[in-house]
Amino acid sequence: MIVYVGFEDGSPAVAGSGSPSRGCIPKSAAAAGNGRQRVRGVRTRVSTRNVFASAGTTVYMVKEVPEGAFSEKLQVPEALTFDDVLLRPKESRVEPDDADVSTQVSKNVDLNIPVLSAAMDTVTESDTAIGMAREGGLGVLHRNMDIEETVAEIERVKRADELVIDRENVVTANPNQTIAAVDEMMGREGVSGAPVVDDDDTVLGIISGTDIRPFLEVGESDQVSEAMTDEVITAGTDIEAREALELMYEYKIERLPIVDDDDTLVGLLTMQGLLQRRENQNAAHDENGRLRCGVAVGPFEMDRATAADEAGADVLFIDCAHAHNLNVIDAARDIKEEVDADVVVGNVGTREAAKEVVDFADGIKVGIGPGSICTTRVVTGAGMPQITAVAEVADVAAPEDVPVIADGGIRYSGDAIKAIAAGADAVMLGSYFAGTEEAPGRVITMNGKKYKQYRGMGSVGAMKSGGGDRYLKDDEDGEEFVPEGVEAATPYKGTLASELHQLVGGMRSGMGYVGAETIPGFKERAEFVRVSAAGQTEGHPHDVMITDEAPNYSPDS
Ligand code: XMP
Repeated sequence: MIVYVGFEDGSPAVAGSGSPSRGCIPKSAAAAGNGRQRVRGVRTRVSTRNVFASAGTTVYMVKEVPEGAFSEKLQVPEALTFDDVLLRPKESRVEPDDADVSTQVSKNVDLNIPVLSAAMDTVTESDTAIGMAREGGLGVLHRNMDIEETVAEIERVKRADELVIDRENVVTANPNQTIAAVDEMMGREGVSGAPVVDDDDTVLGIISGTDIRPFLEVGESDQVSEAMTDEVITAGTDIEAREALELMYEYKIERLPIVDDDDTLVGLLTMQGLLQRRENQNAAHDENGRLRCGVAVGPFEMDRATAADEAGADVLFIDCAHAHNLNVIDAARDIKEEVDADVVVGNVGTREAAKEVVDFADGIKVGIGPGSICTTRVVTGAGMPQITAVAEVADVAAPEDVPVIADGGIRYSGDAIKAIAAGADAVMLGSYFAGTEEAPGRVITMNGKKYKQYRGMGSVGAMKSGGGDRYLKDDEDGEEFVPEGVEAATPYKGTLASELHQLVGGMRSGMGYVGAETIPGFKERAEFVRVSAAGQTEGHPHDVMITDEAPNYSPDS
């Protein structure tokens, strides 16, 4: 016989680990009377720490806790994180390679892989953002830079794989320029050739490094018109990528000016752009075929938000360590009203916070202190273990079709797919990408090994360069910062593409173990089991000495 004991009013006992039933206490069983008492002004509470079991009978010892007593606070719910749980393997016909990992990062923005790079100054600038979008994910540009730099970085991402470079961004030459001047201009602009146009933008020819070279020694002051190729091949605005490629192969040309009916230049197609496009079939593109780009903005940075929006950012991420601050929410609402881009609000870690933002946010980002470089939990005493935080927020967001992003604490691909099982639609990682070639941190050599700098945006170094307000702190009074992050180093890894290959490959395998072919299907089908400390040890390589490092496992992660 098992006797469960609840409160006098029939509501459930607060259950901790080992409780057989959360919120399901038969009155009749409770009425069996084991320890149930009624004391004026006193509620009976069950201590699940004091469970006696004998001959098939479980009896819960009851403690008396006066209502409102401080000790009532200690009857706390449990919150779990990645290592506390595992995905329960299930019947499956899903091969990992067939798993579809496309997802929504916000209401109007979809991605081909459910992965974002963190908005940190040692993780995401335009190189990382370009790499992420080419692989189908999203890079979120950090905000430790001035607004003009933010705009320039967004434009770099947007232009990177543009099929047709818009007229305003095409570097052109004038027929009357000298060879020396055009050579200097091409070097400065980083192009190896340019259409030659007159003052009305009519295309007269095209000039390249090969055309210029013979003139450099002997005819530097000759005019461009003498060196250019004037039998220029152009195409109309309706040309398809395939046709353009065939034309370029046929005429052995690298650039194809796009002209309107009057031969006026309207854009430029390059062989490099076309090939890049073919290589990255899985890239995340906006409706104009440009790479997707995310941008972090402070909740009180309306200027950065509107500038980023105008520059073509797809998603703005309200970048705050505690978005359940009501001033932050008011400011985020104002930003949402002003911009066309989607607005993701974060970070939060509870269902109460999610309820405050779910009516206007296009996505909600979750993570209070799980990050590898975070000290928020130890410095402030506040935080939420990440798996529970994600599940609480998803409980509120999913019924409203608002995507959830799990941000921080992910060390392995297994953590990433567990976050999705807990209700996230995508994951954001910092340390995982900080060691890649594309990340902006500098390379450091220690004991003959290469590392890259990786620092928290709440570390002293990052706050000094402008990131303090993420932690709702300003540096105007010149006081010392109270940091919530550390400055560190992370092993230098290879390319972002190879890291993503491992990460997403592991996530696909997780979907295979659960038998789900899509992210929404996986979220529904996945179940967790709870893991003991012994189970955690068993889950890592044990009783061996690792001789060759695996590309997706490091015991120090
Ligand atoms: P990972 O674990 O992927 O975490 O390195 C990256 C996320 O950590 C957050 N972040 C911080 N949190 N103090 C914090 O408490 C910090 O200094 C800090 N810097 C970044 C952020 O959400 C990031 O995406």
